[in-house]
Amino acid sequence: MTGNKAVAYKEPGKVEVIDIDYPTFELKDGPGVNPANVGRPVHHGVILKTVATNICGSDQHMVRGRTTAPPNLVLGHEITGEVVEVGRDVEFIKVGDLCSVPFNIACGRCCNCKERKTGICLNVNPDRPGSAYGYVDMGGWVGGQANYVLVPYADWNLLKFPDKDQAMEKILDLAMLSDIFPTGFHGAVTAGVGVGSTVYVAGAGPVGLAAATSAHLLGAAVVIVGDLNEDRLAQARSFGCETVDLTKGGPAEQIEQILGVPEVECGIDAVGFEARGQGHGKNAEEAPATVLNTLMDITAAGGALGIPGLYVTGDPGGIDEAAKKGALSLSLGTGWAKSLSFTTGQCPVMKYNRQLMMAILNDRVSIAKNVNAKPIPLEEAPKGYAEFDAGAATKYVLNPNGYLN
Ligand SMILES: NC(=O)c1ccc[n+]([C@@H]2O[C@H](COP(=O)([O-])OP(=O)(O)OC[C@H]3O[C@@H](n4cnc5c(N)ncnc54)[C@H](O)[C@@H]3O)[C@@H](O)[C@H]2O)c1
Ligand SMILES: [Zn+2]
Ligand SMILES: [Zn+2]
Repeated sequence: MTGNKAVAYKEPGKVEVIDIDYPTFELKDGPGVNPANVGRPVHHGVILKTVATNICGSDQHMVRGRTTAPPNLVLGHEITGEVVEVGRDVEFIKVGDLCSVPFNIACGRCCNCKERKTGICLNVNPDRPGSAYGYVDMGGWVGGQANYVLVPYADWNLLKFPDKDQAMEKILDLAMLSDIFPTGFHGAVTAGVGVGSTVYVAGAGPVGLAAATSAHLLGAAVVIVGDLNEDRLAQARSFGCETVDLTKGGPAEQIEQILGVPEVECGIDAVGFEARGQGHGKNAEEAPATVLNTLMDITAAGGALGIPGLYVTGDPGGIDEAAKKGALSLSLGTGWAKSLSFTTGQCPVMKYNRQLMMAILNDRVSIAKNVNAKPIPLEEAPKGYAEFDAGAATKYVLNPNGYLN
């Protein structure tokens, strides 16, 4: 029997590396597994030996105790791996294939999957449309911050890299295809970014930096990134973004200094519901509607908002009773008066990952450098989580099986 170590959520502020079972082609009962999913056969799945598995801001919402994630939930939805076993019903993926795993789990059979809306697949999560590995309320699929992980509907979900040796040379870049690069790209596309656009990205975390990278790739004229964290703003400047420091105030004035007008054409929210107030120094209080209200103010009439930043339906740590239920105080009248469009939700990774893989393999983009990707051993996950939570300008990539040495 092969051992399997994994990163688990223990309690607010704490993750631990624990021993879990080696996966089989069945979803077994465990922390966070929906009863209707227990015993579900997964003959369409494969078992991956993990090559890279990244820590995400989405994991941090759970680890900060801002969701209803149960103790011992195995984390990890950003997975790249090598196939070591294939299930009975897998036709095309083979043992030895090196693959990126979209963080959305999707069946490939429902009406949403057929329209490529893989972030809201109807057949994988008994609680609601949409699923992911290692995530609260997502059906209970075991997370991939582990040595081994089960990937269902493998023929449909996996993106196989065309050449293993070539892929290993760019593996840190390719590791960003499971989530943040497509997610940032989706934010930019749905904000309407194209050649010559002016763009404001709220948040200089990995998703914001991936959105800024994507805006450049799509031909934006000026990309302005706002945050309260100076190290992360410096990271944005390192690849040609303009930046605004939100400890000093909202972004409108600083955008005017850059563009000559206090407006942009495209607005991207790469922050979500844990947004902090602007103009109140580095340790500003939380103000969950700030980013959305700011984007409505500063995006020109007729523009669009791409909103990859996560908003929840329940938040035990919400600032008031409304926020605890995910209800925010939005100035929707502003957005309505300006005919703004909004796109929210999980990024449907499969819509973009193959094209972005081609851009990486053909040297069109350096996503790992732009987000400052850094491999660390699985055992150091608790330290990685803590540093990321403290605002390090780093995208931590766990290296459970030594492939990244
Ligand atoms: N939609 C999706 O499919 C998807 C996928 C991945 C991540 N996400 C979400 O995207 C968001 C960003 O992810 P991340 O990994 O970069 O997280 P992160 O926590 O590392 O980054 C968030 C950044 O926002 C900054 N911030 C706080 N308040 C702000 C404000 N008012 N204006 C501008 N910046 C502000 C923080 O200082 C931080 O640097 C999270 O909510 C995450 O859950 C969504
Ligand atoms: Zn993620
Ligand atoms: Zn589906």
